[in-house]
Amino acid sequence: MRSDIVKLAFVGTGNIAEQHMKYLKEFTDVKIVGLYDINEETLLKGKRQFGGDAYKSIDQMLDNSCPDAVYICLPPFAHGKAEFACIERGIHFLVEKPLSNDLNLAEKIANEVSASEIITCSAYMNRYRRGVNEAKKLLAKYPISLVYGGWLFDTPNNHPWITQKKLSGGQLLEQTTHLFDLVRYLCGEVLSVHCYGSKLIVPQTNRYDVEDATVVSMQLQSGAVANIQSSWSVGFDKYIYLNLFGPDIQVEFRNWEFDTRIKSRGTTVPFEIPGEKDIFAIESRAFLDAVKQNDPTKILCDYVNGVRSLKVSFAANKSLKTGNSIQLDSLDTTEYTRR
Ligand SMILES: NC(=O)c1ccc[n+]([C@@H]2O[C@H](COP(=O)([O-])OP(=O)(O)OC[C@H]3O[C@@H](n4cnc5c(N)ncnc54)[C@H](O)[C@@H]3O)[C@@H](O)[C@H]2O)c1
Repeated sequence: MRSDIVKLAFVGTGNIAEQHMKYLKEFTDVKIVGLYDINEETLLKGKRQFGGDAYKSIDQMLDNSCPDAVYICLPPFAHGKAEFACIERGIHFLVEKPLSNDLNLAEKIANEVSASEIITCSAYMNRYRRGVNEAKKLLAKYPISLVYGGWLFDTPNNHPWITQKKLSGGQLLEQTTHLFDLVRYLCGEVLSVHCYGSKLIVPQTNRYDVEDATVVSMQLQSGAVANIQSSWSVGFDKYIYLNLFGPDIQVEFRNWEFDTRIKSRGTTVPFEIPGEKDIFAIESRAFLDAVKQNDPTKILCDYVNGVRSLKVSFAANKSLKTGNSIQLDSLDTTEYTRR
């Protein structure tokens, strides 16, 4: 980087882009230089609120605004062009989860990223939470044998694409991916999954063909087991939780903020760490510092690592379809090419 100011461009200026930009606007070492979205209204709204030039194509934006890094904030079905355009030009990028609804494409991007010197960030923001990292330190010392967690909500009604499996991958890709990623981050790799699903509550139509609820059982490489529940048909007390149990440690994460409570051998009072409300700012700070200092070690989940978390959701969806347990290593990624 030639200047101390990081020039940023955005591909996709919808909901999550707006949340990122609200925080980025407060950073004194950031300038938003370019915006691109296929929806002109959303694009111009972004320009009015956060500045930067609005462009009609990704290539034009990258070539004219010359960003140091790009935020790719697209729905799962729209990835590919933006990532390859950045790789071609050697531009660093942060990409929102889930990385894609096409696993074959995500693997191709991962291969190209690995062969480049680009800094990438898969936006699994919970990895940057203090509570999560305090737990990770203790879990390195104290083994656990059981994990259970859940993402229980009602159906999101602000995105028409989200309830169409072909476009979003369903809740397992769209939301529960956060918990699959944390299981990997805290407890190590997932070997196999078995998933059951329910389509009992919401009538199935061509605009709603996802499960109302799923349970995913996982065998971890460490020998531990995990069970993650998801629902889009919860009327009361919507919440997120993740619990880990071993003989010398018990960890509880609660709510979107991941409020943390840890009991461990040798301590008399639980260690309580409130979750951060501004986690997107914390994640962005790590990414911006990595870019400024050319130091990828500041990134806790790069693109390649993010693909491994994505694979857990694909394996769970395959298990739903086939009724079988799925070994992650046996997934044929070409089966998941978008058509
Ligand atoms: N990290 C988190 O906790 C978090 C929170 C919310 C959303 N997300 C993720 O971010 C992604 C986007 O979600 P969102 O809520 O911003 O959705 P959104 O629909 O509000 O915004 C997506 C934007 O992308 C634009 N778009 C679609 N196809 C495009 C294309 N080919 N080229 C350019 N622009 C295109 C749309 O016009 C829209 O403005 C989703 O995958 C979602 O899971 C992550």
